[in-house]
Amino acid sequence: MFSYQHAYHAGGPADVVKHAMLSILLERLTAKPKSLTYYETHAGRAAYRLDAPEAIKTNEAAHGIARILPLAAQAPAILSPYLTLQGTPNRYLGSPLLAANLLRGDDALVLCEAHPREHAALADAMAKHANAQVLQADGPAHIPTLLPPATARGLVLIDPAYERQQDYAATASTVAAMLKAWPKAVIMVWYPLLPEGRHVGLVNALENLEIPATLQAELCWRKGKGRGAYGSGQLILNLPYGLEDDLTTALEWLLPHLTADGDDGLLRLGFLHPPR
Ligand SMILES: C[S@@+](CC[C@H](N)C(=O)[O-])C[C@H]1O[C@@H](n2cnc3c(N)ncnc32)[C@H](O)[C@@H]1O
Repeated sequence: MFSYQHAYHAGGPADVVKHAMLSILLERLTAKPKSLTYYETHAGRAAYRLDAPEAIKTNEAAHGIARILPLAAQAPAILSPYLTLQGTPNRYLGSPLLAANLLRGDDALVLCEAHPREHAALADAMAKHANAQVLQADGPAHIPTLLPPATARGLVLIDPAYERQQDYAATASTVAAMLKAWPKAVIMVWYPLLPEGRHVGLVNALENLEIPATLQAELCWRKGKGRGAYGSGQLILNLPYGLEDDLTTALEWLLPHLTADGDDGLLRLGFLHPPR
């Protein structure tokens, strides 16, 4: 337990895909005046240095945000809030700080992180965001007990490290528990695309929930699967109306830039269940 540290992966291609999509969702949700609540089950430390030994060791950001930022001026407008927030050299904002910057003062954030050191760093990083509640807790167990929020509108990000095979089934159960308490929740689930295909049971389980407007987006930066993750998978349940076009625009633009040199990338994007 807890061998995973996101500092080794910050700003890599999976982060770019997941965080670009998250930013687009938050832009859309905050376009309406009513306040909302943002929850994260697995928040991480929120602020990462790309010149830290962990980031240098894997060099993942070189294949992710470092490829995208120099092209920011050519990117579709829908990506500009994400790219603007990531514009400081050698610094990468994780999902909690991206969300805090995109949300408004009367929106609330509830962030769970179980690792003591990551939780302490998260609490530091969020200190100046008075609307953020930072909890050292088992996010998948704790957040369903808090639902539904007083705001009625909101978004949940579920972004586990999937260190154990059972984490896939556990994620499906967490989503079911959340929807039972809060049927209208917009829930974004991230999963890695690995050669072993471990995500298939999770995707099937979430498809079987039959939630309207369940969108699946998978961006593969390598088709010859090789070792390690070859792509980033996202499922969004209760996707806000019409957002698939913005997500398609963003991911189609990102695809060739995130694709490994000499390989063909692949984007799969579509509804598992259409909007009502
Ligand atoms: C993939 S990282 C999160 C990255 C973050 N969401 C982002 O995009 O910036 C997963 C995090 O979950 C934490 N974690 C693992 N098990 C957890 C649990 N049961 N509850 C809360 N956090 C957990 C890990 O310590 C790690 O920091």
